[in-house]
Amino acid sequence: MLIRVCRRSDRRSLRQLGHPPDVVALLSPGPITPWAWADQRTRVLSFVAEEPSQGRLAGTVQLVRSRLDPGTWMFGHWRVVTDRRGEGLGSALLRGAVRSTAAVKRLYSLIEQDNDASIEAHEWLGFERSDRLFSGGGLGFLSTIGPPAPALSLRRASRDDLPEIFEIYLKSMGPLWGRLFPGLSAARLSRAVGEPPDPALREPTPATLPERLMLVEDGGACPAFLARGGRSTALFADPSRCDAGLLARVASRLLALGAARDEWLTLRGLPAPPGRAAGASRAWILMGATDLGCLKNRSLRREEQ
Ligand SMILES: CC(C)(COP(=O)(O)OP(=O)(O)OC[C@H]1O[C@@H](n2cnc3c(N)ncnc32)[C@H](O)[C@@H]1OP(=O)(O)O)[C@@H](O)C(=O)NCCC(=O)NCCS
Repeated sequence: MLIRVCRRSDRRSLRQLGHPPDVVALLSPGPITPWAWADQRTRVLSFVAEEPSQGRLAGTVQLVRSRLDPGTWMFGHWRVVTDRRGEGLGSALLRGAVRSTAAVKRLYSLIEQDNDASIEAHEWLGFERSDRLFSGGGLGFLSTIGPPAPALSLRRASRDDLPEIFEIYLKSMGPLWGRLFPGLSAARLSRAVGEPPDPALREPTPATLPERLMLVEDGGACPAFLARGGRSTALFADPSRCDAGLLARVASRLLALGAARDEWLTLRGLPAPPGRAAGASRAWILMGATDLGCLKNRSLRREEQ
């Protein structure tokens, strides 16, 4: 089994592996995309596992460097051809990709919560599972999942609010995230709120609200804040105070301010998925490795014997 960097000539094989066209374009981009990535200081490395004897690709994985910390990388598009799953190939491919990328010190990924095989493969490799869920939903849907009253208010944040907002941010993202980004501080919050990208959104949808950071005020308390990063809006909530009622009231408030019903709200810090309606109940789990020794020291398995 040969582990190597993905090439333009791999596109057909990537489709045969089951990747949809937009993912094929990310794994094996045309000439423009790498310029755009470089412009955004995004470093992306895609690897494939090739079976030279069969002339086909047996797996893929993509590593993306964080813009917050050059030692922390996210990985995705991790896939092994159906007839080779469960043989240790996925683990070997991920290990090989990490070995080839010296800058990787910490690694994480977001996994759809019902993808048991992937969660088990992560655990087998020594990844730690966070108890926070990442999700999202249209404002129209979210406004119906709980009582819309009592109304809460949104206040545009000032510089003085940064320590309070950063505290909510850390609670919302959870302790594993804090260890994946050990140097994170309130001063870098505006950049931090854009990471990781919302896994439900292949293309960010435009948001209508102009503010960047807004505090959610509920009586005398502040259980959450809203961030408009790039072209989408995200809600960061203290999980101990985040329930369907809070989500419904935030969504109702945004609608009352003129946001569109189909506008997407990214949700961070959820203790449970926001609802069961089609398209709105998907949720992702964060899994991370803060010490890659666990990955590198795993005993070699069947395909390497
Ligand atoms: C996730 C994926 C890449 C793992 O690749 P793989 O080659 O099958 O994984 P490995 O053989 O290296 O498995 C390592 C460990 O993961 C666990 N595992 C793998 N597949 C499993 C399954 N179907 N059910 C339960 N556990 C599983 C096992 O603990 C296994 O170790 P073991 O065989 O010694 O018990 C592969 O299952 C896949 O392509 N899935 C579809 C795409 C996908 O969901 N990608 C991940 C998105 S986050």
